[in-house]
Amino acid sequence: MALTNVLVDELRDMYSAENQLVKALPKLAKGAKNAQLKALFTAHLEETKEQVLRLKQVFEILEEKPTGEHCNGMEGVIEEGADALEKDEEGASFDSGIVGAALRTEHYEIAGYMAAIAMADTLGLKDVSGLLTKNLNEEQKAAEKILVAAKPILRESANQPEEEDKKPQTGKEKYSAQKSREDEKKAASDLVAHSSAR
Ligand SMILES: [Fe+2]
Repeated sequence: MALTNVLVDELRDMYSAENQLVKALPKLAKGAKNAQLKALFTAHLEETKEQVLRLKQVFEILEEKPTGEHCNGMEGVIEEGADALEKDEEGASFDSGIVGAALRTEHYEIAGYMAAIAMADTLGLKDVSGLLTKNLNEEQKAAEKILVAAKPILRESANQPEEEDKKPQTGKEKYSAQKSREDEKKAASDLVAHSSAR
């Protein structure tokens, strides 16, 4: 499979990711308690819609159709965001969880665009690279703005009373806790080898 094919797959993944975000960002905006965060998510939703259109332009240049790949990665990242929205934390602590989730979505996209731009550059596809760079720049700026807005939220959250670590309650929480123990167990023997080699 030639690099052009890999690029098209990568771009279809991004196209699916951006479309998924068009549906997910309003939920983050609605869920966030902090007005500035709400405004940032709403503004980034408008940018995201523009990014979908830019990706469509890219597919036109490449004479390929944009659909064909569902981005499982973004689905997972959005799922983490849905978990943050279900947490029964209050005020700033609730928003702190959303900040983590939102930054994950931005950085997932940043990674995707960086890879796609490097591929387009290698193939000498200047127009494609230019359009993708516009999207990349917006993602990077969005992540920076979220971090700036997060600072006072995190400070406020740090002053909220701590709670006891709660036991997993729902089926989903129990499944997640079980899987995390399995993750640890599977890595354990490799970590022993790593520690003794140090
Ligand atoms: Fe995006």
